[in-house]
Amino acid sequence: MVKSVIKKIGIFDSGAGGLTVLKKLRSGLKGVDFCYLGDTARLPYGTKSSETIINYTIQNTKFLIKKGVDVLIIACNTASAYSIEVLKEKFEIPLFGVIKPGANKAVKKTRNKKIGVIGTRATILSNSYTEEILKICNDCEVFSNPAPLLVPLVEEGLIEGEIAEKVVTMYLKPLLEKAIDTLILGCTHYPVMKKTIAKIAGERICLVDSATPILETLKRNFVFPEKKENRTEIYVTDYPENFGKLSERFLEGNFDKIEHIDIGKIR
Ligand code: DGL
Repeated sequence: MVKSVIKKIGIFDSGAGGLTVLKKLRSGLKGVDFCYLGDTARLPYGTKSSETIINYTIQNTKFLIKKGVDVLIIACNTASAYSIEVLKEKFEIPLFGVIKPGANKAVKKTRNKKIGVIGTRATILSNSYTEEILKICNDCEVFSNPAPLLVPLVEEGLIEGEIAEKVVTMYLKPLLEKAIDTLILGCTHYPVMKKTIAKIAGERICLVDSATPILETLKRNFVFPEKKENRTEIYVTDYPENFGKLSERFLEGNFDKIEHIDIGKIR
């Protein structure tokens, strides 16, 4: 099969979390341009109903398609959990969520077949990771725990130290008691706290985030130009100023432009 050439990748997240995915893709796919949408005005998605999340993701997808992207990444676990099937049915563009690649990676990594998952309340309630894991490994055991406080901690920059460690310990304790050997960081904010999570989880536990499995999936499915430079455009649905500051924590690098858009006007 001839693989299509991807020149521009669209990524969306409810906010800044998906920048952890953008960072990984930018460093792994040097010649590709990126168009990132952070739906900051409607964040968080993790506390919303499935209907609302689906409506938001349809608008986000329409916006990025208008920007001329060749492929779309739903770099938000919550949005992936609820809307990937609907979006695939509605749009012709190749679409990838983060749940399936993350579940596959975790199954490859586990030795004792005990996998832990942390994510927003909505992601954990959707049971998506458990279902995907059991599809490929029906004797795996999956233990999940919502970890909602990690999102505001990351946004406030409290990613290390006493408070961060206490909160991470609270969320990981029930999973560690089940002797998991692999932990899915099922929210795009969590990799920013990876150091603290790794410290509490211990060396024995393999951490799986959303970014690496998505990069591997894209490399398997497409070919990419060999340009030396790429362009990154960022669009946000609320003030760009706040996002610009936050992006330093997530992205570690420059982008070419940041612009506010009125997502309500997208039809
Ligand atoms: N980025 C979202 C995720 O990966 C978490 C933030 C939110 O609740 O919107 O699930």
